[in-house]
Formats: sequence, structure tokens, C-alpha cells
Amino acid sequence: MAAKLFDLGGRVAVVTGAAAGIGRAIAVGLAGHGADVLICDINAEGLSGTVQAIAGHDRRGHGMHCDVGNDEEITALFVELDRVFGRVDILVNNVGHNARSKPEELSRQDWEFVLGTGVTASLRCAQEAGRRMIAAGRGGSIINISSIAGATALGRGNLAHSANKGALHQLTRELAVEWAKYGIRVNAILPCQVLTEGFQDWLDSPGFDPALMARFLAGIPSGRLARAEDMVGPAVFLASDAAAMVTGTLLGVDGGNLALNAGGSHTW
Ligand SMILES: NC(=O)c1ccc[n+]([C@@H]2O[C@H](COP(=O)([O-])OP(=O)(O)OC[C@H]3O[C@@H](n4cnc5c(N)ncnc54)[C@H](O)[C@@H]3O)[C@@H](O)[C@H]2O)c1
Repeated sequence: MAAKLFDLGGRVAVVTGAAAGIGRAIAVGLAGHGADVLICDINAEGLSGTVQAIAGHDRRGHGMHCDVGNDEEITALFVELDRVFGRVDILVNNVGHNARSKPEELSRQDWEFVLGTGVTASLRCAQEAGRRMIAAGRGGSIINISSIAGATALGRGNLAHSANKGALHQLTRELAVEWAKYGIRVNAILPCQVLTEGFQDWLDSPGFDPALMARFLAGIPSGRLARAEDMVGPAVFLASDAAAMVTGTLLGVDGGNLALNAGGSHTW
């Protein structure tokens, strides 16, 4: 009975940015619970690795090049979905970029890139998936991968990233309210720092101050950074019937980060 609650057999998921990191972990995790998955990315090599991992669960994976910052490529992605799978039950909006800059120096171009590949792309994918879910009359689940940065300010040049994720929270709530009548649930996952390929690239870059690692850990009562795999259980839950009454929720998957007051501490 418990396993059935989380069973995604017969369902089709779309996951953006699934060649690496959180997107890859979630795409493979959804397949592990029975879903077939259409994945997209701009990294062709990574895409085929994720498709193979999905096949390892005896589920159907299909990869397509799609830059979610490009509207025509999003349209083409969903035409491909219709052709290959003919239905959609789950959408995971995972792609998200940062453009670190002092607020007074942030360029319009960088701002528009972060929001264009983030909240705007998430809206466009949600519209494509939502129209199909409404027409099919079976409901669905949309999961937006946000960040603790959407709920509190990080400083240190994260303005565009924080504003993008904050807007994603309101996209989540508004869609949840508007589409509840169709049985479409819309929720967001808010990770703390996650050790993914993209995050590791930043850790390895000359601009990263190694002292920051201690600061990250001081903000996470669970005492470690998250791993991409930590996002799988929450995503499967939100995608599944176990979350039938869960919509409009911003789910922290952050080891207690958002619970901790900036003046508090988890060590004595
Ligand atoms: N890693 C973290 O610490 C962390 C923390 C909180 C939230 N997040 C959020 O999680 C999501 C995934 O982050 P990650 O760390 O797994 O990233 P990542 O860089 O490890 O992987 C991102 C994937 O998205 C793909 N991608 C990038 N731009 C794309 C585009 N325009 N179109 C299609 N695919 C594109 C990349 O090729 C890559 O495969 C983002 O929304 C990020 O903001 C990450």
C-alpha cells in the first residue's frame, strides 16, 4: 500500500536540465519509481548518460536538445513530447543560473539571462505542460526547483539569483491556485547548497573564497551540504499520489537552513 502511494507507473515526466546535477538525479529517481521521462538539456553527452540510467530502471527515457532560454526550442520540446510519449503527468522545471555581481554593477543582460532561463522558462514549460494536462483531464504535478535564496537573502552578489527564485515562488503559488480545479498541483523544492557539477565548478573557480564553506555549514543544522540524491525523495513524493493534497507548497530540502535564525547556531 505504502509503495503504491509513490508508484509513478504509467506516468510521463518532463525534466529540464537533466544532463547533470539535481535534474539528472530527479529524472533517474522518477524512472526508478516507474515513470517514463523526456529529458532536455544543452549538453548532448550528459543527456545520453541520463537516458542510459533511465533505461537501467527499465523505463523509457528520451533526450532532446533544448535551451530553455529559447521559446521556439521549448515549443519544439513539447511537440517532441506529443510525438514520442503522447502525454505528460509530471513537469520538473530544474534549470537555473546565477550571475554573481554587485547589485550596483549587475547588467540588464545578466539579469535577463537569469530570469529568462529561470522563471520565464519555467512559466513557458508550465504553460505547455499545463495546457496538455487540462485537455487530458487527468491532473498532474509541476515541481519547480527553487532555492533557499528565493526565501531569504544571501548577499554576496546573489541578487539576480534570489530575485529569480523569489519570482518562482509566486509562480508556484499562483499556478497552484489557478490550476487546483484541474487537479494540477504545483510545488517548489528549496535546496540549500548542493554538491552538484555546477556547484563544484564554482567551488573550483578562482572567484570562490574557501572560507565560505564554513559559513555554508554554519547555516545547515544537519551538518553537511546536500547531495543531488537528497532531492529525489521529495520530488517523487510531490510527483506522486502521496502528495494528492499538497499544492502551493515551498518545500525546504535544506537540512534545516531556513529554520535557523541568522542569530542562532546549531553548535554550542
Ligand atoms: N547546486 C546548488 O547548490 C543548488 C542550490 C539550490 C538550488 N539549486 C538549483 O537547482 C537547479 C539545478 O542546479 P544544479 O546545481 O544541479 O546545476 P548543474 O549546473 O549541476 O546542472 C544544470 C544542468 O542544466 C543544464 N542547463 C543549463 N542551462 C540550460 C538551458 N538554458 N537549457 C537547458 N539546460 C540547461 C546544464 O547543462 C546542466 O546539465 C538550479 O535551478 C539551481 O538554481 C542548486
